[in-house]
Amino acid sequence: MLITGGGTGIGRATAQRFADAGAEVLIVGRTAERLAETAEGRPRIRTFVADVAEPDAPDDVVAAAVEAFGRIDVLVNNAAITRPAPLGAIDRKVAEEQLATNLLAPVFLTQHALPHLETGAAIVNVTSNPPHYGWRDNSVYGSTKVALDFLTHTWAVELAQRGIRVLSVAPGITATPVLSHAGVPEERIVAMGKELRARIPLGRIAQPGEIAWWIVNATRPEAGYLTGTIIRVDGGLSAAG
Ligand SMILES: NC(=O)c1ccc[n+]([C@@H]2O[C@H](COP(=O)([O-])OP(=O)(O)OC[C@H]3O[C@@H](n4cnc5c(N)ncnc54)[C@H](OP(=O)(O)O)[C@@H]3O)[C@@H](O)[C@H]2O)c1
Repeated sequence: MLITGGGTGIGRATAQRFADAGAEVLIVGRTAERLAETAEGRPRIRTFVADVAEPDAPDDVVAAAVEAFGRIDVLVNNAAITRPAPLGAIDRKVAEEQLATNLLAPVFLTQHALPHLETGAAIVNVTSNPPHYGWRDNSVYGSTKVALDFLTHTWAVELAQRGIRVLSVAPGITATPVLSHAGVPEERIVAMGKELRARIPLGRIAQPGEIAWWIVNATRPEAGYLTGTIIRVDGGLSAAG
């Protein structure tokens, strides 16, 4: 199992769930300490420090996974960043950073992994639930996630003949450090959480493990007829509109 962004949040919960189920896992992130925290007490989790947005990263990351396991059964493209800004205040460098991390990294990591994926392998792209009616301040981030869902559909068709499945798992609002990593102040995060909770039919924010469960189980052989689809784990948010 190769999981990007395994140092915190959904990636951490996914790595730990895979490891607890007996899988050997390699997690990737930019911060060694975060990765080490995920792996603590779980010898099946190995860590690899890399910035997936860098052009050399796909080569390095795939080489590390192949050296460790000989092949790749599951690739989870989970690492992403969000940097909210309205049109008029979008900084080119910051937009490029989001595109490189959220979209180009999955493209090239998956392409490099391809020779090492055998029949039965699965690729999971962790996307999101951008509303169909527009998402204030999130035009760049939302575009990367919609595009990633498009890659899921396309790659599922391209790779089906090889017996490789491709899925999106689209989390709803989940209790992770994603917004503090984006520099959003704590009181704003609390206010946003309150406002969003009121719109979620199930009336609460997800825990990372509730998203990880779907990632792990969608890659199991029993889910072998599932490909090219988006699994929305959002407490009904997208259904409510
Ligand atoms: N939380 C939510 O409400 C929510 C909702 C919808 C979708 N999602 C999606 O869920 C996924 C996981 O997010 P999360 O909520 O768990 O947020 P998170 O805690 O911020 O996790 C993202 C991880 O990606 C790593 N990362 C970021 N840029 C990287 C890079 N260039 N190279 C390598 N690693 C990088 C970060 O670690 P370092 O900074 O240490 O590298 C971090 O551990 C993302 O795809 C996100 O878009 C989250």
